[in-house]
Amino acid sequence: MKISKLTTLRKKTELPIKEDSKILYIGASHGVTVNLLSDLVPKGHIFAVEISPLTIQNLLFLADKKKNISPIIADANKPETYKDLITEVDLIYQDIAQKNQIEILFKNLQFLKKDGFIILMLKLKSISSTLPNEKIFQKAKDELSKKLKIVNIYVIETHKDHVAFILNQ
Ligand SMILES: C[S@@+](CC[C@H](N)C(=O)[O-])C[C@H]1O[C@@H](n2cnc3c(N)ncnc32)[C@H](O)[C@@H]1O
Repeated sequence: MKISKLTTLRKKTELPIKEDSKILYIGASHGVTVNLLSDLVPKGHIFAVEISPLTIQNLLFLADKKKNISPIIADANKPETYKDLITEVDLIYQDIAQKNQIEILFKNLQFLKKDGFIILMLKLKSISSTLPNEKIFQKAKDELSKKLKIVNIYVIETHKDHVAFILNQ
């Protein structure tokens, strides 16, 4: 399957986010998307993991104002360091530019409820800067399919190196 044809695969799926959803957000950065998501889950909660203590500063201020965000400074490669700070979640949202993005996601699946969903913003060029996007995409898709069901795939038109996967267990 060619990555350039992926947009034709779009099915109509509702985003798996409800007002009381609990979300594990991996790669929270300054909190721009965490802020948007926190409005969508007024009765839920977001556990926002970010590795960089400098980058997370804005998110710390945001979490003071919005009571449904818990910022966590940690390396998502080491979920054992924050496992006692979070509960089971309905959704994992991951957006990190790391070579081992899929391995990181798999390590964090322990926090996802049985019927939970994943939104994975896969950065193809972080996996390999030399291989063509289609090869990286196909390999990533095969790896994800071993553990998860692929519900939908979106190519982000303005960022062709990024592919969004909606997945569930
Ligand atoms: C592309 S930015 C995310 C932007 C954010 N999703 C948004 O829309 O506001 C990726 C973030 O992931 C963080 N990150 C990278 N590796 C990480 C890791 N192993 N654990 C936790 N955070 C990580 C980076 O420091 C960076 O802030």
